[in-house]
Amino acid sequence: MKTIFSGIQPSGILTLGNYLGAMKHFVPLQEEFNCFYCIVDQHAITVPQDPAVLRENIRRLAALYLAVGLDPEKVTLFIQSEVPAHAKLGWIMLCTSYLGELERMTQFKDKSDGRGESIPGGLLAYPPLMAADILLYDTDFVPVGEDQKQHLELTRDLATRFNNRYSEVFKIPEIRLPETGARIMSLQDGTKKMSKSDSNVGGFISMLDDPDTITKKIKRAQTDSDSAVRYDKAEKPAVSNLMTIYSLCSGKSLEEIASMYEGKGYGAFKGDLAEVVVETLRPIQDRYNQLIQTSELDDILTKGAEKASVTANKVLHRVEKAMGMARLG
Ligand code: TYM
Repeated sequence: MKTIFSGIQPSGILTLGNYLGAMKHFVPLQEEFNCFYCIVDQHAITVPQDPAVLRENIRRLAALYLAVGLDPEKVTLFIQSEVPAHAKLGWIMLCTSYLGELERMTQFKDKSDGRGESIPGGLLAYPPLMAADILLYDTDFVPVGEDQKQHLELTRDLATRFNNRYSEVFKIPEIRLPETGARIMSLQDGTKKMSKSDSNVGGFISMLDDPDTITKKIKRAQTDSDSAVRYDKAEKPAVSNLMTIYSLCSGKSLEEIASMYEGKGYGAFKGDLAEVVVETLRPIQDRYNQLIQTSELDDILTKGAEKASVTANKVLHRVEKAMGMARLG
């Protein structure tokens, strides 16, 4: 069985972008692959986090992973910091990296912008830790949204560099981007990625937003100058983004949606879109509310960390041995 690995940061409530670009695709994969899904709290602390909020967000993310339909009997769900091999291999991958390539990462550039002398070192070390996450499980495929593409390319470069320097220790993973929805855009700016850290809360729909909030955000969403519901990413980025969301939530094709709203304008389209999004999130929110307070969640995470450690420690052993570390070999 081939292996899947993916991770999500517990750095806020997940958005519809996280769901449509990543999480939604995790669910069918569990039927065919050996899946590891991780709550990457060590990535979240690359920028300062309030301890109480981080604790809460880790739990919420665990509940959301299950609420979207992941079955803990089929997948390994765990918290990154509970499997110490991640930090250990993260250090080794950092030592395998060049400063120049880390400074060229767009996420590093975006997140360090305006911080002057006070750029946290963790932001630079972020991609090598992500490489470690993936490589520790002999991963074949990594399902992620488009914003992670550059990190995946670096992961492949670092693994190849390591293999050439020592021996064929790492399997080289492949990215798996969704055909549609790899980049869901802000509701307020069709040219900017939907992000949970957007200071304008109108730009994103949180997976836990209530129906009223969702409806208001969609009604206020940016549209383009004419009133046609037509998919055209270059000329009509805002409406095209809304149509993508509609399509992914309803299963209808973009052509079907365009013909449904021909001559009807944005009002009817947005009203129906709000309903479609509310109905997509409703069952997830219901399951989330049942799960969030249960001790079942803790048992799943404990077992997940134990199971992940077995694989991760084996790969780490192979790495350290190949490098001549820790009296192995
Ligand atoms: P994070 O936590 O920012 O996002 C989690 C997943 O959601 C996807 N995503 C989106 N997809 C479509 N449209 C959007 N607007 C959108 N926003 C986010 C992301 O691409 C991602 O798949 N570095 C990673 C976490 C990570 C990881 C890993 C991922 C750490 N180690 C190993 C895969 C494998 C991140 O910050 O994701």
